Amino acid sequence: MANNWLDISALDEVPEDDVLGVDTGGKDVALYKVEGQVYATDNLCTHGHARLCDGFLDGFEIECPLHQGKFDIRNGSPTCQPVTEAVRTYPVRIENGRVFVDLG
Ligand code: FES
Repeated sequence: MANNWLDISALDEVPEDDVLGVDTGGKDVALYKVEGQVYATDNLCTHGHARLCDGFLDGFEIECPLHQGKFDIRNGSPTCQPVTEAVRTYPVRIENGRVFVDLG
């Protein structure tokens, strides 16, 4: 798949140990910052219609606000029921204080 790097946020806008929802115009992406590192996933839970940016980030785990399923933001894998399907993750690159995400 071709790379599709998109500048979607200022690095400063992504809160430390928290999550930010960004509508990239077609794709809803969640950005997280943990220990200074930025991670990106789809913002939509794989279990139902809930946005992960409305959830609670604990370490590398994002908890869905609807049924409290959890994902590891580093690889998208489900870590707590009822979610069983991984959430998609995206490569992140930081350049000149901007966050680029490869939407593929
Ligand atoms: Fe996310 Fe159910 S919608 S756990």
